[in-house]
Formats: sequence, structure tokens, C-alpha cells
Amino acid sequence: TGNTTLDPGFTNTASCTSAITYIDGDAGILRYRGYPIEQLAEKSSFLEVAYLVIYGELPTGEQLESFERGITRHSLLDERMRDLFRCFPRRSHPMPVLSAGVMALSTFAVDTTDPLDPEQVEGATVRLLAKLPTLAAYAYKNSVGQPFLYPQNSLGYVENFLRLSFGYPTEDYDIDPAVAKALDVLLILHADHEQNCSTSTVRLVGSAQTNIYGSVSAGINALAGPLHGGANQAVLEMLGKIRDEDGGDVNRFVKDVKEKKSGVKLMGFGHRVYKNYDPRAAIIKKHADEILKSSGRQNELLDIALALEEVALTDDYFKERKLYPNVDFYTGLIYEAMGFPVNYFTVLFALGRLPGWIAQWREMITDPATKIGRPRQVYVGETERTYPGYVAPE
Ligand code: CMC
Repeated sequence: TGNTTLDPGFTNTASCTSAITYIDGDAGILRYRGYPIEQLAEKSSFLEVAYLVIYGELPTGEQLESFERGITRHSLLDERMRDLFRCFPRRSHPMPVLSAGVMALSTFAVDTTDPLDPEQVEGATVRLLAKLPTLAAYAYKNSVGQPFLYPQNSLGYVENFLRLSFGYPTEDYDIDPAVAKALDVLLILHADHEQNCSTSTVRLVGSAQTNIYGSVSAGINALAGPLHGGANQAVLEMLGKIRDEDGGDVNRFVKDVKEKKSGVKLMGFGHRVYKNYDPRAAIIKKHADEILKSSGRQNELLDIALALEEVALTDDYFKERKLYPNVDFYTGLIYEAMGFPVNYFTVLFALGRLPGWIAQWREMITDPATKIGRPRQVYVGETERTYPGYVAPE
């Protein structure tokens, strides 16, 4: 139809220009604002990276302090929002609750919802960064029927989140510094990844001049899918299935994958852009080894994961298709070893990705070249037909 080009999944169509994240999929390179992910993971902190991703430069000491202070000051939710969580059934998966929580937030933070007012956008930026950990923790606490805690301003971003998630109002919560550090690094690794499915969703929704809350809420839903962020949960479930149904022997599962049996996929493998290795997976693998050693947990699942990796890296099916472990393959294992429940894994991804969503939304709304997202289609349906019994007017 005319000059429309069919490109399912947008494998070859750039929807925007962006100065935030650079990826070279063949060389396994990932940089935020020019800084290699390896250096940021080693040297930086999650909030510093959030600042970098959103504002384009590393903050000075003073800028970082004031950014952190603003976030700490906004971590409380309106008291009425606590009731919201109680409306959801016990065992609700925290991802839909998180998405609903972000939408609910927009009804309380009404003076930060004008997408075209830079001051309001700034207000929404701080509020989202500040409140997402609280919303996430309450979504989780609701799913296990435990009481909510209030954020504690003396704690750092990650420490506060851990306490909100796993603490009890009746006792002090001991934060394991190794877990807090590892989570901070994991969040850094997830902070942005250019035009992936959830980020493209955030931009597309925002291109209608929908505010950040509505756009991020949509992004959370995109992330929840098993082919995207939901893969970290799916990996653990897959490993558990191999343990329970095949006694840990990976061969039958690999055979099903290769025969493409009813869409069975090796979860945590493959990537649209990385065709050599996923640099995030390489960094996580190092941390995973340490955490797994010190936790002594889940060695069974780790053994299955290593066996799968071995097969996948040596078998022609996977080699020909350039299928390597992606970020979600190891995060599932490391989150498990850190003591996170399986249905919390994708929520952790959302916390990490939030700065990227915000940065991309802000870049989109201020770019004069932005137009409302409106893909074309190639129509393949019926040509014109006449409704039965219809008689054309004389
Ligand atoms: N297991 C088995 N076969 C696979 C896999 C897999 N995980 N991934 C791709 N293939 C096959 C696919 O069937 C196809 O084979 P053929 O050419 O014979 O039809 C070939 O490899 C090319 O795959 P594709 O589906 O065209 O690749 P894509 O770029 O559209 O999909 C992907 C990328 C990540 C959605 C896909 O690899 C996948 O579903 N992986 C499993 C889910 C997963 O781990 N997702 C997390 C992605 S990383 C971070 C994130 O976004 O969360």
C-alpha cells in the first residue's frame, strides 16, 4: 500500500533519535550517556546513574545530595493509597498492582500531571522515583498479607526498599550490606536499554501527550510480559519444572525447545539486539557466583542453569541462531539466592528501569521532531462486500 513498509516487531525501524543509551549488539557494548556499563556498575550508585540517565551528566556531589534528599522526602504515600492495596485479592501478582498504583498516584499528585509544564514534569520525576519502591513494597506486602511499613528517611534508596519489603513493624530489620550492594548494581544494569518494548510503550503512550504517570504505568504492563521483563520469573519457573519433572536432566527440555514444541522456549536466552553476549549478563554472572556461594541456597537450580547454558552454548541450534544468555537468565538465580520471592523479580526490573522510562519520556516530550506514534498497516482483509439483504438506494 503506497510506500508503507511492513516491519513486524520493528526489527529495522528507528522510531526516534536518542542521546541516552548506546548499544552495539555485535560487540556487546552498552553505555549510558557515553559511560560504559561496566564502569558504572563498579563505581557508581543507582541514584547517581538515575541522575545521569535523566539529566545527561553525572551530578556533582551537591547535585546528587539534593536529588537524593528530594527523593527521600517524597517516599511516603497519601494515607488513602494504603486502602487501594487492600482492594486487591491476597496473592495478587505485584506487577498489575504496581501499574495500578502508579495510575492511582497520578490522581493524588494532580499538580504534577501537566506533560507540557517542565516544573510539573520535574515534580512527577521526583515523585515517581521516590514512591515506586513504596508502591512495590506495598504490592508485595499485600500479596503475602503482611502489614505495611512507613519509609525510613535515614536509610538509602535500596536499603529503604529492602526494609519496606521484608521488615515488620514490630522489630528492627537487619539489612544485609552484601544484598543491598548487589541489588544496587542490578538496578544500575537495568536503568535503561534504549527502545525496548516497555520503553517504546512509554514513548508511544506519551506521544499522545499523556503524562509520565500514565505512560510509565503502561510501560510496567509491557515489562510484565514473559518475553520481556517477565522472563526473569519465567526462568526460575522453567528451572523448577526441569527439576521437578525431569529430575534435573535438561535433555528432554532442550529437545522440546529445538523441536519448537508448542512454542517452548529457553527462557532467558536470546535477544533482539545482542547477538554475541549480553554485557549485563556478564557482570551479573560475576556477582551471582559470589552471592550463590555465600548464600548456599538453590544449588540444584544453579546446576540445572549451568547445564542449560553449556548445552545452549555448544549446540548448533543455539549457535546458528546466536542465542546467548540474556540479563534475565542470571537475575532470576541471583534474586532467588538473595531471598526475593519469585513473583517479585519483575518488580525489581521495573524499579531499575524507571529512570530510563522517565528519561526517554522527557526526551520524547521535548524533542521538536516528536509526532504522535501512529504506525501504518498492510491491510489483508476482505475487499468490499455487501451486507445480506442490503438494497442500494435508487
Ligand atoms: N529459545 C529457543 N529458540 C529461540 C529463543 C529461545 N529463547 N529465542 C529465539 N529463538 C529462535 C526463534 O525461534 C527463531 O528461530 P527460527 O529462525 O528457526 O524461527 C530464532 O531463534 C530467532 O528468534 P526471534 O524470535 O526472531 O528473535 P526476536 O529478536 O524476535 O526475539 C526474544 C527476541 C528475546 C523475544 C526471544 O529471544 C525470546 O523469546 N527469548 C526468551 C524470552 C527472554 O528471555 N526474554 C528476555 C529478553 S532480555 C531482557 C528483557 O527484555 O527483559
